[in-house]
Amino acid sequence: MISRTAVGFVGLAISATTLGELPLPAQRPIVIAHRGASAYAPEHTFASWDLALEMGADYLEHDLQMTADGELVLLHDDTLDRTARGPAEDCTGTVNTKTAEQLRHCEVGSWFNDAHPEIANEGFATQRIPTLRGVLERYAGRARFYIETKKPAEAPGMEEALVTLLEEFELLGPSASGDELPTVILQSFSPESLVELRARAPHATLIQLTPRRMTSWGIRRRMAAIAGYANGIGPHQQRVGPALVGAAHAAGLLVHPYTVNDAPKMRRLLALGVDGMFSDRADVLRAVIADTPG
Ligand code: G3P
Ligand code: CA
Repeated sequence: MISRTAVGFVGLAISATTLGELPLPAQRPIVIAHRGASAYAPEHTFASWDLALEMGADYLEHDLQMTADGELVLLHDDTLDRTARGPAEDCTGTVNTKTAEQLRHCEVGSWFNDAHPEIANEGFATQRIPTLRGVLERYAGRARFYIETKKPAEAPGMEEALVTLLEEFELLGPSASGDELPTVILQSFSPESLVELRARAPHATLIQLTPRRMTSWGIRRRMAAIAGYANGIGPHQQRVGPALVGAAHAAGLLVHPYTVNDAPKMRRLLALGVDGMFSDRADVLRAVIADTPG
């Protein structure tokens, strides 16, 4: 693993000229299906991502974690408790203390049926915790991927394993799908993780997520540093205004706010000129973009 220092958002070793060599980042307002079509199907399942593709999502979003034996799996929470069901020794507690074999014993759909009986589906209860390899095998060639390294400091080797797997599937070159959008976008709240990804995948499109508590001013203060290693920012939607969008675009950075689920808020952000957004409702966002003058 590349050695890490606590870089924060400043003091980064990537030179500005590096970015000049990067491919053009994603253009047009893109629809990022947040954990899949997760308003309608259990998050981080094939059911959810299949539906997102049917709804016209440009990207399928994934939260990446690593098991105790080094398998890359997709799940949002640090722990299994909210979304996994199965034998307690395998399906409760922290994800990174379990082996991939243990996680194969868990299903991740019945919680959704219990929480949303009006749209419950018995097929959801058969959904398993996906591995990243399984997702790439299922969707490569017909989808784009927007992958977040989740708590990477607690998963040494995650970036190396991620880049190795993406290279195996030949997804890190210039747009593998032959269009103007990159096939893969990588995102993280961790600057250190993104710097490591930049070193391992110099041409990847990288998005610096910023926490909800970070103000617009705080993000703008860090903008120059972020532009030294990333291609865009992913701020909480409530932090996005004209000053933030203007500063990001002036720095050559895309703006992809999270997580926007109702049409008026989508329209507000599109009017500000954001480059896409994360939504649990890819169908609503697709329709709003279609109705928004270009
Ligand atoms: O990755 C963008 C957004 O998903 C960040 O929030 O907690 O849903 O991963 P979270
Ligand atoms: Ca995420």
